[in-house]
Amino acid sequence: MKASVAAQLVSLASVISTVHAGTYSRTENIVGSGFYNAFNFEAIPDPTDGRVNYVDQATAQAQNLTFASDNTFILRADFKTVISDSSPTGRNSVRIRTNNAYTTHAAVFDIAHMPQGCGTWPAVWETNEAAWPNGGEVDILEGVNDQGADQITLHTAPGCSMPASRTETGSALQLDCNTQVNGNAGCGVNAVVPTSFGPTFNNNGGGWYAIERTDTFVNVWFWPRNGNVPDDVRSGGTSVNTANWGTPTANFPNTQCNFPQFFDSHNIIINLTFCGDWAGAVYGASGCPSTCNSYVDANPAAFVDAYFQFNSINVYQ
Ligand SMILES: *[C@@H]1O[C@H](CO)[C@@H](O)[C@H](O)[C@H]1NC(C)=O
Ligand SMILES: *[C@@H]1O[C@H](CO)[C@@H](O)[C@H](O)[C@H]1NC(C)=O
Repeated sequence: MKASVAAQLVSLASVISTVHAGTYSRTENIVGSGFYNAFNFEAIPDPTDGRVNYVDQATAQAQNLTFASDNTFILRADFKTVISDSSPTGRNSVRIRTNNAYTTHAAVFDIAHMPQGCGTWPAVWETNEAAWPNGGEVDILEGVNDQGADQITLHTAPGCSMPASRTETGSALQLDCNTQVNGNAGCGVNAVVPTSFGPTFNNNGGGWYAIERTDTFVNVWFWPRNGNVPDDVRSGGTSVNTANWGTPTANFPNTQCNFPQFFDSHNIIINLTFCGDWAGAVYGASGCPSTCNSYVDANPAAFVDAYFQFNSINVYQ
């Protein structure tokens, strides 16, 4: 009896999600000090070996590494302290994770500024940390050392890959999402548009990132501040219709990937690390001075612009 009720609910749920595909209602409007309610601070060792020391909320607020006003939330790394080369950890910074987790959803990130500087590795992404990599990972905004455009990437257990030909404005990189392939490169898409990342993004006043995740696809969009932004994205209103958002920057279809099998319910994570597995590995090739860890340790003033400034994060379900 229970099983058949459950089965009916499942089939009802799939009908509902089919009917409403594209239209979502706002379930969270995260602005200013609302970030402190929506997110946990994760004072954990960096899983990607960065030259970083993630601090807790009390420390972050005491050192002004996070700062909230009525309409903005800033998250930054320390830019005042010289770190001893013998210190076991690196520069103070912040990593936050939402209390809520999401499966089918859309989210819009209105970002005025992102961390910049040699050695920086900022990210806005979604995962279930406890089940990584089996629960999957979606990187919405990521890059290193001020280089290039944004990179949008899925990382999964073996058995999920992307077709070469997709409807997206970005440029497809590796197609296999398996974390065990090619040093966990994942199946990425380069956003191509220079204003999507780093100093170019900041000089342009930032912009909007958005994700739509369903049981059958993940899409990610980027619109620069002065771009042709859909009204519902720009206004951050109480509903969105992704059908009006145009061709996504990155499209990840389910033709060779069973999404419910590879993707759990995910938290949103925002992190800023230094050096480590990616930024450190390509540091020299990025035209940055000295070596990554030494530069980060010795030059606090180089990280004055190593901060995220969020106007809002809106979640729609
Ligand atoms: C930061 O985010 C990326 C995802 O873009 C993730 O792979 C990495 O583990 C995170 N790094 C840290 C230091 O938390
Ligand atoms: C804390 O940071 C904010 C945002 O960057 C800044 O406006 C404010 O002056 C800082 N406060 C102190 C005491 O440094």
